[in-house]
This record gives sequence, structure tokens and C-alpha cells, in this order.
Amino acid sequence: MLMGIIMVTSRGPYSYDRGRNGFVRRDNVGGVATGLKNVLEKNGGDWICWGDGSLDSQYLNEDNGKYRIHRIILDQKEKKGYYDDYSNSTLWPLFHYFREKIYHDSRAYHYYRQVNRKFSEHIMRVSKPDDIVWIHDYQLSLVPGFLRDQGFRNRLIFTWHIPWVSSGFYSILPERNDIVKSISRADSITFHTETYGKNFRDSYYRVIGKEKELERKIHSIPLGINYRFFSESSHRMKKKPFHQEKVIFSIDRLDYTKGLVQRVNSIETLMKRFPELKEKFVFLMLVTPSRSGVRDYDDLKDELEMNIGRINGMYGNIHWTPIIYMYRKITSAQLSNYYRWADIALITPLIDGLNLVAEEYVSSSENGILIISEFAGISRYLNGAILTNPNSGDDVAEKIKQAMEMKKDEIELRLRTMKEFARRHDGTWWMKKVLETVKK
Ligand code: F6P
Repeated sequence: MLMGIIMVTSRGPYSYDRGRNGFVRRDNVGGVATGLKNVLEKNGGDWICWGDGSLDSQYLNEDNGKYRIHRIILDQKEKKGYYDDYSNSTLWPLFHYFREKIYHDSRAYHYYRQVNRKFSEHIMRVSKPDDIVWIHDYQLSLVPGFLRDQGFRNRLIFTWHIPWVSSGFYSILPERNDIVKSISRADSITFHTETYGKNFRDSYYRVIGKEKELERKIHSIPLGINYRFFSESSHRMKKKPFHQEKVIFSIDRLDYTKGLVQRVNSIETLMKRFPELKEKFVFLMLVTPSRSGVRDYDDLKDELEMNIGRINGMYGNIHWTPIIYMYRKITSAQLSNYYRWADIALITPLIDGLNLVAEEYVSSSENGILIISEFAGISRYLNGAILTNPNSGDDVAEKIKQAMEMKKDEIELRLRTMKEFARRHDGTWWMKKVLETVKK
């Protein structure tokens, strides 16, 4: 058991809500929460997070037998200012290059600071002098600074899970100095790709100035999945309920960075450009609810569903619906079936920090092909994947056609290479590598 590690994230592994029998335990679907859950279940430790469930205040400190959770409760104003507004309407679009979606309000920043300070005070209370404190992601960028200001001397790791934009784009942010300065006070700062790490360094140099020590602290170490779970999934595979030759599959949170509308439109391009492929495939598109209440997310749902309806109405017939769309959370047993049914996973975010779904798919699949956006961090690592530019419907359509026609030997070779990467760079490898950066 790995002792003395305190994980700190905005979203926790699960929350409690009111349900039929008093309460329900709701698992979190986000990439970071899922990744860390796997690692802590294996190694133990403490996890400080926001208790966002309606009954979480009854579970402030919970020992679930594998690790301990310490929940921080936020009031409505804090939730709105910290989470909806500053984290998800300022930082999220900024760090994904969505200039026109950046909303800025100094009151929101006030709450973001207040909540980050709350997290830092909680860390001070929970931690012992030798503990390593490991803070995650853009929602908590000011925590290292607050901790150091309060004289906190423990080893600190900060992991940034989303892209870090170019220094010019970063400098748009009114609070640009506070954020890079705070992060730089951690002992180790990790990103998922080298480009993000370099962009962070350049942003710091541009807004603060050169700093000799900084370069040494920056590392590029991609988060991994629980390879064993996905490759040896014990769930029995159900029979494919489709008769079409190929099943194309995708699963994403509902988010404008994921390129969902562009993706369904590229299915339309596929049918226009290659009409002979009609009825030879079915596209199973799963979207999980996310950040509802934030305007851009609600609007996106309408736009996506309108396009799916239009395409199905135009190209479908009594025997065939090109896009089977589901908007809900699913169980891991269902997901495991979908991964195994899928001949092609079509993962085409416009930009994505890493994308763990791609790794889950290649680990689960026995004969699948991965088409991945060249703007997803993971595309740098998965050599057997077919790369595509999600901004070009033609390119995506051509890559789908290439995948549909690929021969068995080539599919196997590509899949083997990708499985090998996922196996060697799993969540446990990631944790070990990151912890090595702060070894005494
Ligand atoms: O790194 C991005 C992240 O924080 C991940 O945890 C996950 O991909 C997603 O955002 C979850 O967002 P939220 O906590 O807002 O549902």
C-alpha cells in the first residue's frame, strides 16, 4: 500500500444523491476521476474533492475500505462562480482555443479564488508533514500558491490534464500572472504531452519572465488506464444486435471540444461521397450528459440532435437508421460490450488533452480499428491508429472508408501495437513515473 499520498481534484470518484431507497451512489464519468479511482483502489491513500452530490454533506469523511475521501461542500454562489463560470466558461474554452466562447467576469474569479483557498485550507488540515500532495487540473490552479503562502512545505505535484495553449493565446487571460505563478510553486508540474509542457513554460516566460528553475520542474507523462480491466473484462459479451457489416462507435461527454456535430456531419459526407457504403454500417453514438446548466452545453445538445435527426431522416429507411444515438450514462458492462462490438472507434475531438476512451477501446477490442483526431493528445502515442483532421468532413469520410476496407492482417498489426502501448503505460506506470519526479 502506497501511504502518504493525498490526491486533490475538483470532481471526486462518486457522489451521493437522493434516490428511491433514500440515496443513490453516482459514479463520476470524467477522465481524471476515472483514472485516479483506478490508481487509488489499488494503492490506497486520501482523496480531497468537492462533494457535489445533494447528500454529500452526510459523507464528508468516508473510508470506503480502499481509500479515504474528504469532501468539501460548496454553496450555490461558489458552485456557480467557481465551477460553471470561471472553470468552465473562462478557463475551459481558453485552454481549448475557443476564443469566442470565453466569458469573463471578475466576480467569478473571486469565487474561483475563494474555493481554491478552501481546498488549500483543507489540505493543510488533512496532511501530515511527509505526505506528498498531488493537485489536479485547471479547476485548482491557485491551490499551490495558497499553500505556499501559508507556509506549506510538503512535496507538491501539480498535474494539468487539459491542453496548455500557446503563450500568445494564453496571454488573453486577465489573471494570467496569478495562474502560472501559482502552478510554478509546485515541485513538479506534469502534462500529458511535451507540447503542453513547452507551451506552459513559454507562457510563464512571456507573462512573468525567465526562470531558471522552472524547466527542471516540467515533465510530460501521459495518464494511462487500467489495462488489465479492459483487456480481460469479465463481462460476457452480448450478441451484436446489428446486421450491418461494420459498427462504428463513439462515446464522449457532451462538450463542444469533442467535435460531435462535425462528426455526425462527416457521416453524412461519407454517404454522399461513397453511396455504395450506405446500409453497410451503423454509427452507434453515445453521449453522456455534462455541465448542463452552462449555456453552451445546452445549446450544443439541441444542435447535435437536430443534425442527427436531419441525417437519419434524409438517409435512413424502414430497415436502416445510419446513426443510433443515445444520450445517457451507461454501465461499465454496457460500455465493454459496445467496445467489443465496434469495428471502428471514431474519436474525433477538435482538441483534447489526452483522451482515455481511445486507450480503453484498443485495450478492449479484439479486432478493432481506431480513427483518432490528430488534435487529441493520445494521437502522439498510439502508432497504429488512423489519424484524421476532424475539421475536414472529407478527410474523416475517407478515413472511415479506409477503415471499412482494411484487411484483417493490417488491423491485427495496428491493434497489437496500440495494445502494447496501453499495457506498458497504464495508470500504475503513470503514477510511479509522476511520483519519481519528487523523490527525495
Ligand atoms: O481534465 C478535464 C476534466 O476535468 C476531466 O476530469 C474530465 O474529462 C472532465 O473535465 C470532467 O468535467 P466535469 O468535472 O466538469 O464533469
